[in-house]
Amino acid sequence: MARKKNFEKPLYSDKDGIRFATPKAVAQYRAKRLKCKTLADISCGIGGQTIFFAKECDFVYAVEIDPKKIEYARKNCELHDLDNVEFICGDALSPDVIEQIPKVDVIFSDPARPAEENKRKVMSLEPGIPNVISAYSDKTNNFVFEAPPQMPPERIQFDCEREYLSLNGQLNRLTLYFGDLKQCERSAVSLPDNVHISSTNTTYDMDETQTLKMYAYEPQPSAVKAEMLPQLAGSLKNDIGNVDVKLFTIDKKRLLITSDARFKNAMLKNHYSVLQVTDFEPDTINSILKKHDVGTVVLRAGVDPADYWTIRNKIENGLSGKNTIHLFVKDEKAIMCEVI
Ligand SMILES: C[S@@+](CC[C@H](N)C(=O)[O-])C[C@H]1O[C@@H](n2cnc3c(N)ncnc32)[C@H](O)[C@@H]1O
Repeated sequence: MARKKNFEKPLYSDKDGIRFATPKAVAQYRAKRLKCKTLADISCGIGGQTIFFAKECDFVYAVEIDPKKIEYARKNCELHDLDNVEFICGDALSPDVIEQIPKVDVIFSDPARPAEENKRKVMSLEPGIPNVISAYSDKTNNFVFEAPPQMPPERIQFDCEREYLSLNGQLNRLTLYFGDLKQCERSAVSLPDNVHISSTNTTYDMDETQTLKMYAYEPQPSAVKAEMLPQLAGSLKNDIGNVDVKLFTIDKKRLLITSDARFKNAMLKNHYSVLQVTDFEPDTINSILKKHDVGTVVLRAGVDPADYWTIRNKIENGLSGKNTIHLFVKDEKAIMCEVI
């Protein structure tokens, strides 16, 4: 049996199957969103997602091209006492397999991706999205595909909802919903809190600032990737009233929302009190951190790997306090943010 991926019972799998299996929290969330009478999961792998479809739907067809993986999927469903799944081994695009699937409410596919690819392309998924849609168009209009989450919304040229999902603060999944399942153009979800914003929400355009206010907040990567900071700011304003929120860009990969108001929101993955901004000088930083009872520093900067440990050792030298700070660097300035 293979390692868990947060399943209570370890799944039957080879190395490859468990690596690509859907984490339990995501599989559960998606199965609840797609709850229906009949669903076909046409590239089911070892069944990480199929298990949860079978818990929510009346009946599930599970197709997989690899005979070893479909046997694991069968055993994994048995392990979860599920007897409402029909397993079909074969190429989901072959006439023989298509014939075995009746009209269903939803066709779902989490396709295989090439191991190495400089830039993720929707057209290199296997089985391919347009091929699946045309092969199964007389079974349903409701298609759902998983796609590489690194792809920005504009790179997906289909008429579908693009749902970006963060799991424990990391970008984890991009799911494309077609037909009646499309609820909007773009959406962002954060798990395990199960919060959601969509492109139809009220927006608020935050001004950029070069000066941090008292508090800083790191948006969930799903909201950033879905290009929904205006919707996130709109929902913050709804929640907390008319307080001022501004955008502080650190570098190409990192940005913060900053405000003089202190608040909590599950679409924010980290909440900070801004401790101090100073020159990026490791010894100076270290003495400031000692004064503020810091024990743990999370270095959030692109540092030359050759210098990384020298810098880190100097910054952390002798720290034994109870507080954790995240250290960002912008324009040679160190920004020390205490986690609140
Ligand atoms: C990313 S994995 C699916 C993982 C699965 N959702 C889970 O949670 O365990 C993709 C699977 O698609 C299968 N696959 C690729 N091409 C296929 C095809 N033409 N027909 C059926 N399955 C296919 C691969 O063998 C692989 O197991």
